[in-house]
Amino acid sequence: MMLEASERPRGEVVEVPPHIPSDRIVDFDIFAPPGIEEDGVHEAWVRLQKSTAHDVVWTPRNEGHWIAVRGRTIRAMYRDPAHFSSHVIWIPKSEGENYGLVPTRLDPPEHTPFRQVLNKAIGITATKEMEPMVRAVAVRIIDGIAPRGNCNFTEDYAKQFPVQVFLELLDLPVEDAAEVKEWVDQMTRPDGSMPMEEVMANFFRYVDPVIDQRLVKPGDDLISRVIHNDIDGRAMTRDELRGLVSLLLVAGLDTVVNVLGFFMEFLARNPVHRRQLVNDPRLIRKAVEELFRRFPVVAEARMVKVDTEIDGVKMKAGEMVCVPTLLGGTDDSLNACPMSVDFNRKGISHITFGDGPHICAGQHFARLEAAITLEEWLKRIPDFEIPMGSKVAHKSGIVCTVESLPLTWPAPPPA
Ligand code: HEM
Repeated sequence: MMLEASERPRGEVVEVPPHIPSDRIVDFDIFAPPGIEEDGVHEAWVRLQKSTAHDVVWTPRNEGHWIAVRGRTIRAMYRDPAHFSSHVIWIPKSEGENYGLVPTRLDPPEHTPFRQVLNKAIGITATKEMEPMVRAVAVRIIDGIAPRGNCNFTEDYAKQFPVQVFLELLDLPVEDAAEVKEWVDQMTRPDGSMPMEEVMANFFRYVDPVIDQRLVKPGDDLISRVIHNDIDGRAMTRDELRGLVSLLLVAGLDTVVNVLGFFMEFLARNPVHRRQLVNDPRLIRKAVEELFRRFPVVAEARMVKVDTEIDGVKMKAGEMVCVPTLLGGTDDSLNACPMSVDFNRKGISHITFGDGPHICAGQHFARLEAAITLEEWLKRIPDFEIPMGSKVAHKSGIVCTVESLPLTWPAPPPA
């Protein structure tokens, strides 16, 4: 029996098309890179980078696709929508085609007016105004955890903080957090239990009444600020409104949850680095940039728009190219000794937030969330470690994850 692409087990290999040169073929499953269990997700991806002298390789896994493996090539593809379209940005392609949030799948010029709306809503100016609220949420959660002397950072902080911040920003009930997070997880790491169409339908059923209410009675929240905008002088369609509102939830939750997990795992394992930040909290903002460089989490893709020759290979229109932000800051042609973390590193270069027209609209907000987390955590919990014998597992995907991060620290004596 032939399985449809969407029914196929994800990592299964497909036949190699005749135009793929044999020296470009690698066996690499972006959802299960070889060796991830031994030394973690970043090392597993960097091994692929180091295994080849080429800029692009091709894997028969996940319906077959190219992978750009050098920082400069990945950046160039993000900047070149005329050849590398955002029409499909997730692998495998058959699943990516069902994912359609405005404006992530649009190329310029259609993308541009939507992007202006996002920049106004969550750009650098808006981010500055939100700082007190973000700090209040962080302090509330950490104050609850600190006296315990231990936690599972992933569950008790990383999954709570960005969701609570976002529900406050959007003025939605905190009780909805678990359900919303479940749909976001299904979009970024689908486990096959819910087809993508159903995930999208759930999202839209959830956001529709909220949009209706805010169209009639606008508030001061992020949804109201996004939906009361024109696109090139016309009102947004219902699909566009749904897309923008859902996108804010999808883009701003899972990424932050996992970035924080990787940052804290590093600080738990590296007391010298931790001490630097405890002794000089003014270093934290710079340290956050270095941590974003060293621990990128997104592995998205582009669809080849027209037949293109690059790095000596012919890519055909419609083929998929993975453009992993994971191989930007960790490429030694962009940064010297890229796997070492140096909070005083000069000229940090990374593509953790992508590049080109779709570069992360929430990057300033993400930096703020990360910096505030470290500032408030280290003030209250300066020394912490991973309990002996605990295994910290990573998963690779469109967004890579730290599955569970147990931490312990000397709890203060009861008052
Ligand atoms: C550590 C956290 C984050 C990382 C690593 C990250 C990464 C990225 C990347 C790589 C892209 C580019 C996608 C592409 O080119 O196809 C992107 C887009 C986007 N991000 Fe983020 N992001 C983070 C946090 C956030 C937050 C907090 C928000 C919202 C406040 C946000 C909102 C967006 C939006 C709306 C887009 C789509 C922009 C467009 O299509 O023009 N992100 N993000």
